[in-house]
Amino acid sequence: MKRELLEVAWKKRASEFSRTGALRVFHGPGDGGRDADLSRIAIEAFRAESETVYVWIYAWEQDGAKALSESTLADLAAFLRSVGVAGAVLLERPEKGTPADAVLLFGTLPSHLDVREETDLFRIRFEATKHPGLFLDHLPLRQWLRTAGKISGKSVLNTFSYTGSLSVAAKRGGAGKVLTLDLSRPTIAWAKENWELNFPDDASGDFIFGDVFEWLPKLAKRGDRFDVVILDPPSFSRSPKKVFSTAKDLPSLHTAAFRLLNPGGLLITSINSAQISHAQYRDEIQLAAVDESRKLVELIPLGAPKESFPGADYLKGWIFRVD
Ligand SMILES: C[S@@+](CC[C@H](N)C(=O)[O-])C[C@H]1O[C@@H](n2cnc3c(N)ncnc32)[C@H](O)[C@@H]1O
Repeated sequence: MKRELLEVAWKKRASEFSRTGALRVFHGPGDGGRDADLSRIAIEAFRAESETVYVWIYAWEQDGAKALSESTLADLAAFLRSVGVAGAVLLERPEKGTPADAVLLFGTLPSHLDVREETDLFRIRFEATKHPGLFLDHLPLRQWLRTAGKISGKSVLNTFSYTGSLSVAAKRGGAGKVLTLDLSRPTIAWAKENWELNFPDDASGDFIFGDVFEWLPKLAKRGDRFDVVILDPPSFSRSPKKVFSTAKDLPSLHTAAFRLLNPGGLLITSINSAQISHAQYRDEIQLAAVDESRKLVELIPLGAPKESFPGADYLKGWIFRVD
């Protein structure tokens, strides 16, 4: 393992801890150079108010082989201990199928930790989960929601919400009513925890445990309309109502969203897919817009932050005004 690669990345990024308690400190595919092991891992660090740092490591299998050998794992743990990390969990991601929950690599970790990202608090979990609960690649979008001044007083529908971090950022940016929707019951409970951590006395947050493909038409039918709709689907999802894939269902998903969006409202759309090109994605949104007689005006493109996800092109999206 080329320890220098980790040292350089850690040194470059750890200064950001003054701004945020949640950082991707090593993005293997961009920071790993040609080192086979390290090019297949990512390291995310979460810092408590007490300044203790805990780490999540993701390791991607390749050609059926584990990303990290036992000796690399030992070297990695030694490096993390040397920079003061108190404990780390490891998530091994198989090429196909769902990973098992993260396992302890070393040290001791709390079951959860509330970290501050700029103005917002987010609950990070280390136990019994396959993900810490905060997508660090969506930082630019959370920053835009908080500070661009574009959503003040607006009603927001956050679909595929996961732990509701975009709902929290939207509320911080002055949103009015915020409806958060996800198909996983534990995830919706986590989204409520995040909301309450930030806005304990604010009742303007609504939460639905449910299927986007059932709820978007249902909301439209009962006449609900929103000023902002957020779509951030996974590449593939199986729900009682529908088997969804970004490869075939982007137009119908966007059609359903346009039907809920007020004239001049904002569509925030994002996918995590290396396979679908920007051009194809955009064409499919455009197709849905034409069908619904809506006009798209691009406000900004979305993507992972270049400084902490060097070279990453998998996360794509836009914020559109929809006239
Ligand atoms: C990529 S994550 C979204 C991340 C989120 N936007 C964020 O910034 O944290 C996808 C989420 O979609 C949810 N999901 C998948 N299929 C769904 C469906 N049919 N209806 C509602 N939510 C669904 C999953 O439970 C998961 O939480």
